[in-house]
Amino acid sequence: MTTTPTCHDPAPVMLGVPTRGPHGSRSAMTCEFRCGNACDKPVPNRSANEEFAQVATRALARRRVLQGGLTAGALGALALSPFSPAAATGPGRPAPTGRGRGRRGAGTWDFTPVEPNKKDRVTVPDGFTSELLIAWGDPVTRHAPRFDVRRQSAASARTQFGYNNDFVALLDHPARRDRALLVANHEYTNEPLMFPAGTHTPEQVLEVAIANHGMSVVEVQKGRQPGQWSVVKAGATRYNRRLHDQTIFELTGPAAGDPRLRTSQDPSGRRVRGTFNNCAGGVTPWGTVLSGEENFNQYFDASGDMDPEYAASYARYGISGVGRGWNRVDPRFDLTREPHEPYRFGWIVEIDPSDPRSTPRKQTMLGRFKHEGADVTIAPSGHAVAYMGDDERGDYLYRFVSRDTYDPRPTARARRRNLGLLSAGTLSVARLTGDGSADGRYDGTGTWIPLTDERRSFVRGMSVADVLIDTRLAADRVSPTKMDRPEDVEVNRVNGRVYAALTNNSNRGTSAMPADEANPVTTSMVRDRLDGPLRSASGNRNGYVLEMTPGRRGHTGPDFVWNLMLVCGDPHAPETWFAGFPKQLVSPISCPDNVAFDSVGNLWISTDGNVLGSNDGLFRVPVAGPERGKVEQFLTVPLGAETCSPFITADQQAVLVAVQHPGEVDGATYETPASTWPHTHPHPRPGVVVVRRS
Ligand code: FEO
Ligand code: CA
Ligand code: CA
Repeated sequence: MTTTPTCHDPAPVMLGVPTRGPHGSRSAMTCEFRCGNACDKPVPNRSANEEFAQVATRALARRRVLQGGLTAGALGALALSPFSPAAATGPGRPAPTGRGRGRRGAGTWDFTPVEPNKKDRVTVPDGFTSELLIAWGDPVTRHAPRFDVRRQSAASARTQFGYNNDFVALLDHPARRDRALLVANHEYTNEPLMFPAGTHTPEQVLEVAIANHGMSVVEVQKGRQPGQWSVVKAGATRYNRRLHDQTIFELTGPAAGDPRLRTSQDPSGRRVRGTFNNCAGGVTPWGTVLSGEENFNQYFDASGDMDPEYAASYARYGISGVGRGWNRVDPRFDLTREPHEPYRFGWIVEIDPSDPRSTPRKQTMLGRFKHEGADVTIAPSGHAVAYMGDDERGDYLYRFVSRDTYDPRPTARARRRNLGLLSAGTLSVARLTGDGSADGRYDGTGTWIPLTDERRSFVRGMSVADVLIDTRLAADRVSPTKMDRPEDVEVNRVNGRVYAALTNNSNRGTSAMPADEANPVTTSMVRDRLDGPLRSASGNRNGYVLEMTPGRRGHTGPDFVWNLMLVCGDPHAPETWFAGFPKQLVSPISCPDNVAFDSVGNLWISTDGNVLGSNDGLFRVPVAGPERGKVEQFLTVPLGAETCSPFITADQQAVLVAVQHPGEVDGATYETPASTWPHTHPHPRPGVVVVRRS
């Protein structure tokens, strides 16, 4: 695939089934439809900045010196910052879904870990149950038609629950204690699994696929059993909402209105139709939802020449001129005709589920990249802080700190103020440094390098708008650390530390991704099938969980210390590390993607891609005490699926998981499905499940 603007051939309509074998941690099918085969293309980050692998190599080499002698206690010696958990769990808490946050529940659940498996079901431990809450095609808005897979239309898709749910959250209902608002992202589509052959024209396929992206807001009702939830009938609620390709989003913050954001349809550069490839997200303390626009680059084609003025910028974001053919049905996705349209994506969007008539926003102050998601914490100073990952091999970790402070009062004035918090502040990027072997620890220090605030850029030669629109290019200039695909980054409100999922990098160790040979993550132990032997494969296949502890000045300060808490994989593999916990007592884990925390501070990890022969899963792991590092598998998702979210309800009685792309297995089609989960139809349907004690 070229990164230069040379391709004039129309892209094929994506009804063909990828036939190549798996690559990376996923089926070829997932790679094609989810991220446009990003792994097959040149790494967009060609800067000379240091790889995290190089940092980790030094750190892990030190660990080898200490083999067997490094204990959880030693890790616990990490100095805790004066971060105040009380402050962060008070006014800064995401909107709860039940009054009173119990100390019992998910954090103290006793369960026997689920074994790795290839079942076409959601497998939970004995004593627990999983129930389908909502799935692709279910009605969302009042006039949604009954789902008919043979007669899909863009119009009906805009009223129904979209495809491939990713992030999910339950928010407090504005008026009722027995209800809540479910918010879900619809990240991407897989046309061969969505359409029976011969039922739709290629143009209809494209239109329906585009309309199946976006987000949904769905009112839900508490059940009789603790942790039980069900959907309120679409016609009986005024909160339900489907945000789709025609929904108007307002660009806000310093870059709004910039000439690069203007198109023939929107000369203002402030009003964008749609949000696409929404991956993870977070709930803000003021009750809105943030959602990350991730692999948006794959939706743009070029019917002719592309403006050379944007070549460097396009290349840095993987915008090649070969997309998914959307320009055949909507010219705004044609780079030749609308060179600015891709600049209107790659943002963090903010929606207010409590007001179904509110205009959702794209927050330019949080920068533009392949946003995995964003999660806001309120620092003791009152500033809103969001940590963010740019999910690409060799890209960076970011942090936003608001200029203004959060107002916790339940007044309209306070709410107006809080809704403006993400429009002004400082955007920074992380540099991680190993601190040498003398201290005998496999950790290091980190610095937040400021890129811009709302008025002044700190990157020489780039304006504020330049930095926010071409954030990757701006960051390249200040020597941050290249990471192995930063995914979800969230703050643990109990201990104040920040946890980042670094999912994998199959190219680690190649010339494009150099690493020391002593670095165990340049070769990984993988399995081709569940009962197969471990074999060696190149690269970092199983990923890490990075733990960062803010320095003396907390989440708004300039520094932090870090360590690799988990080097994921099969516990029998020599490269794995579970914070020093005995390996024979942990579950195998591969490709961490999303993180969440229960009320006692345990880390919950969902996975995307499993190179150990099993279905994906959800894991719980304590981060403190004698069980720090004890990874236990809580559930597995059906065949071919990815475990998205998770979301632990505030009353701790249920865990919500989005089952994304069930049956996405190479060679599968609508007619020959690899999965039929949730077994309501002859084909698979991505959906949300609620897991609770039975
Ligand atoms: Fe959509 Fe970074 O996963
Ligand atoms: Ca150290
Ligand atoms: Ca993800």
